[in-house]
Amino acid sequence: MSRDHWNTELYDEKHSFVSKYGEDLVELLAPKQGEAILDVGCGTGDLAYKLYERGVNVTGIDQSEKMINQAKKKYPFIAFELQNVVHLSYENAFDAIFSNAVLHWVKQPKEALSCMYLALKRNGRFVAEFGGKGNVQLIVDELIKQLKAFEVDNVEEKIPWYFPSIGEYATLMEEVGFRVVFAQHFDRPTPLEGERGLVNWLHMFAVSMFEGVDEKIKEEIVVNVENSLRNILFQENRWFADYKRIRVIGIKQ
Ligand code: BEZ
Repeated sequence: MSRDHWNTELYDEKHSFVSKYGEDLVELLAPKQGEAILDVGCGTGDLAYKLYERGVNVTGIDQSEKMINQAKKKYPFIAFELQNVVHLSYENAFDAIFSNAVLHWVKQPKEALSCMYLALKRNGRFVAEFGGKGNVQLIVDELIKQLKAFEVDNVEEKIPWYFPSIGEYATLMEEVGFRVVFAQHFDRPTPLEGERGLVNWLHMFAVSMFEGVDEKIKEEIVVNVENSLRNILFQENRWFADYKRIRVIGIKQ
């Protein structure tokens, strides 16, 4: 994302599921006491703290200054740095790199993988989960349809996400030198908190899709998206997002 639009309070309050699901990924990472581990896209630091509790020497990076400031406030005893994964400053520094629900924001995946490869020690592992092919497809398709109905230009170009298949991503991993030892693609319908769950999700995550759109029209579009998707994504009094995740593990050779 180009601008730092994150609302860290809304993120912590309404989107705590992001780090809750990430706790499973910590199990896949299987951190050992004393390991040096980089959390790429640490947000407000909750998963970095889980690693810290397990005796890890953890460093968190994020490209959002607001997120990093909030993380430092919540966990002043953990090292957090403002860094972009496509310009990482580390070399042979970490036993593992961990990343949860972030790499779908990185539209230069090969550059990011090269930097992470360089930052790992030999035999170090890269363990990541993020949105895979088909992620939030129903939401994205409806949003595009509504933006076009209001004659918003270049809608597809404003999509801020990269949702690869495991074939595509594993190939990129191999191209930068990783041995891919695990890859998985699965559905995870994800409950969104409250009656305004989908609206909050759109306000939190789809900001760039509305660039240049008048506030009033934006509100109309959001209401239309909500109305169109209610039959499919609002079930048993709850909104669900049609998440599809990929999980990968690569070893630095
Ligand atoms: C995700 O976690 O899959 C996601 C979050 C925000 C926007 C798009 C995808």
